[in-house]
Amino acid sequence: MAEIDRYRPDDKRSVEGLYRRVFGNDAAEASRLRWDWQYRRNPNNPGHEPEIWIAREGPAIVGQYATMPVKLSVRGHEVQGSWGMDVMVAPERQRQGLGEVLFRTWDRNVGAALGLGLSDSSYRLFQKLRWPDVGPVPCLVKPLTRRALRRPSWPTPLNRLVSALALPIIKIVARSRPLRAEVRLIQRFDDSFTALWNGLAPTFGLAVRRDAAYLNWKYVSAPHVRYSIAALRRDDRNVGYAVYRHVHEPRGRVTVLVDFLTDPADEAGLSTLLHWVDREARKADSDKIRTFAMHAVFRRALRRSGYFQVKSTMEFVVKVNAVDVDPAFYEQTDTWHITLGDSDQDR
Ligand SMILES: CC(C)(COP(=O)(O)OP(=O)(O)OC[C@H]1O[C@@H](n2cnc3c(N)ncnc32)[C@H](O)[C@@H]1OP(=O)(O)O)[C@@H](O)C(=O)NCCC(=O)NCCS
Repeated sequence: MAEIDRYRPDDKRSVEGLYRRVFGNDAAEASRLRWDWQYRRNPNNPGHEPEIWIAREGPAIVGQYATMPVKLSVRGHEVQGSWGMDVMVAPERQRQGLGEVLFRTWDRNVGAALGLGLSDSSYRLFQKLRWPDVGPVPCLVKPLTRRALRRPSWPTPLNRLVSALALPIIKIVARSRPLRAEVRLIQRFDDSFTALWNGLAPTFGLAVRRDAAYLNWKYVSAPHVRYSIAALRRDDRNVGYAVYRHVHEPRGRVTVLVDFLTDPADEAGLSTLLHWVDREARKADSDKIRTFAMHAVFRRALRRSGYFQVKSTMEFVVKVNAVDVDPAFYEQTDTWHITLGDSDQDR
């Protein structure tokens, strides 16, 4: 039977080899580029010891559970949260109970275990373990051009017809609106964002602590993507932010609104940030803007700004251990703030 213990520096090569076998060469290369940042430089990992569990059989590594520690606000209490990310078992050892042992080891050691954007096999394992399933995190899209509605599976005449019919609606939805507060691009999050988070944390049923150290790590020093960051300002104070980037996809250009924060009571503030992102998306010639949001008030503001809810595949599983929560807690997710920026979804 395999033994589970913590990652050691000389495991690196074997873990990379296993990663390549399970996820393929491209994913392994991408993971290698992110690895140091993702596992060692996380500010919630002050000893710089990666929060990774390894399954060993003699000298061989047959599985790992690699995680991202975060501070999680649960109804105003701060608990040690942990996003489960790169979990894998050697192909010849799968379906023999090893995954379950790894999941349980992780769960025993963290204040809250969180999983986002799961593979089919891990989602089924979470279900088998009967962990609370609160997902998927809703996905919302705002069309900006008629190309936004194109489907590669449709014949060209149908694509043309749909585009022509939708054009008047898209023109209304995508029209430019004035900004009602000051928005400015910033290079880093200063300490005022920690103060902003401290003030807002109790309003969220569940959310990752978005202090300046976390935000800078996640959105300023990520080695694999470049983000734009817009700060919302009122009376010379930072009262919100939006993090976004523009990407080429097979179906066209997309602006991805990765993360954002305002006071949920400040609908005008969020709308202002959304209008800013609209302008930036138009400047980048994007066909649409895509975002993920769980909070009901934020989703309402998004819909009022021209976003439509579409099917989401971003499954979300969470199990809180450090504070007592009743089963109803997992059903009342309207005040939870989860976005694409959480875990390592944007990679
Ligand atoms: C997810 C993973 C770590 C699970 O490890 P494991 O050792 O196979 O899991 P266990 O043997 O403890 O549990 C098996 C249970 O997981 C689920 N499961 C695992 N693999 C599955 C698959 N290919 N299809 C459907 N269900 C699967 C089932 O519920 C299964 O129960 P069953 O065997 O009674 O039907 C492993 O399948 C894996 O490495 N998958 C590829 C990498 C991956 O997808 N990682 C997750 C990224 S989010």
